[in-house]
Amino acid sequence: MRPAMRVVSGIQPTGNLHLGNYLGAIRNWVRMQDDMEEANRAEGTTESGDAGRNQCLFFLADLHAISMPHNPAELKRATLEMAAALVACGIDPQRSVLFNQAQVPAHPELQWLLNGTARMGWLNRMTQFKDKSGKNREGASAALFTYPVLQAADVLLYQATHVPVGEDQKQHLELARDIAQKFNNDFASEDAPVFTLPDPISPPKAARIMNLRDGTKKMSKSDPSDMSRIELADTPDEVMKKIKKAKTDPEPLPSEEKGLEGRPEALNLVTIYAALTDGSVEDVLKDFGGEGFGKFKPALGELLVETLRPISERFTALLDDREALDAILARGASQAREIGRPTLEAAYTALGLVR
Ligand code: TYM
Repeated sequence: MRPAMRVVSGIQPTGNLHLGNYLGAIRNWVRMQDDMEEANRAEGTTESGDAGRNQCLFFLADLHAISMPHNPAELKRATLEMAAALVACGIDPQRSVLFNQAQVPAHPELQWLLNGTARMGWLNRMTQFKDKSGKNREGASAALFTYPVLQAADVLLYQATHVPVGEDQKQHLELARDIAQKFNNDFASEDAPVFTLPDPISPPKAARIMNLRDGTKKMSKSDPSDMSRIELADTPDEVMKKIKKAKTDPEPLPSEEKGLEGRPEALNLVTIYAALTDGSVEDVLKDFGGEGFGKFKPALGELLVETLRPISERFTALLDDREALDAILARGASQAREIGRPTLEAAYTALGLVR
């Protein structure tokens, strides 16, 4: 039998879920969850105790969110909202383990154990730290610098085999592999490694959705302008307005992909359309090549509204049921603590720490 797949991924609960998160990550999580379910059925490993059962764990990286200046009341609200958003997008808490990091202390515990293995030089190379600290490196929090070690702990704790992430997180995953490899080399025997080396996986299409006001920057919840991103909770009117106002150029759409070179905003809108229809950029250009944005933008806006409508309806309903949300997160955290325990213990033991 092939070894079981353990899929693990996280998202920071800062601000609302946006289209970049959805098309770049969450939609892929839902697909993996569904594929995994199918594989379990085919292999007869559907019960929770079955050996060889494929499993998905998805979490809200609330501990990561405190690495940047934040408002506690907002973090709390955003954590619950993001949990509701994930369920609304199709993450099923009965089939996947869904939780928030803060309810699973093994994450920061393992991070400390891994801090002994991670090298300063490795962390110094992380481009996200450079981006997020900007010119104010001295004033950045220590958490922002060591954050990638927590991210490594997030996946190594569960022996993740596959980690679905967008392009921007690949470097952090490489670091997790380096840490796992060095820890295994330094503290474990070759035939009994403590950690599994996880593979990053990016969806083949739309791995990177860009800012609607500047096609060279990724769509992000940290951009001060609301007009730069589509949020899953946006009303249809807001979605249409944001697409209509999205930055473009005066040229019509080309009929071939190479005609989009040097036109990052046009490429982004076509990429979004392609992702929503599960097609390629070429497919979209076959239909819209030669057309101006006056025709393309309303078509894209309508497609977005139709895709987001059922998600935002479920999202609003879930947010009204705080008790149900709390119960989902408590159950997920309890499952996560169980799954992570043996690995955490193995790490303590390997390091010679008396328990
Ligand atoms: P975060 O919260 O910034 O983003 C969550 C996921 O969404 C992807 N993503 C995008 N994909 C395409 N286009 C975009 N514009 C875009 N913006 C975000 C990200 O690549 C990511 O997959 N450090 C992580 C959270 C994290 C994590 C982990 C992920 C913490 N621990 C362990 C995987 C495994 C982060 O800040 O992602």
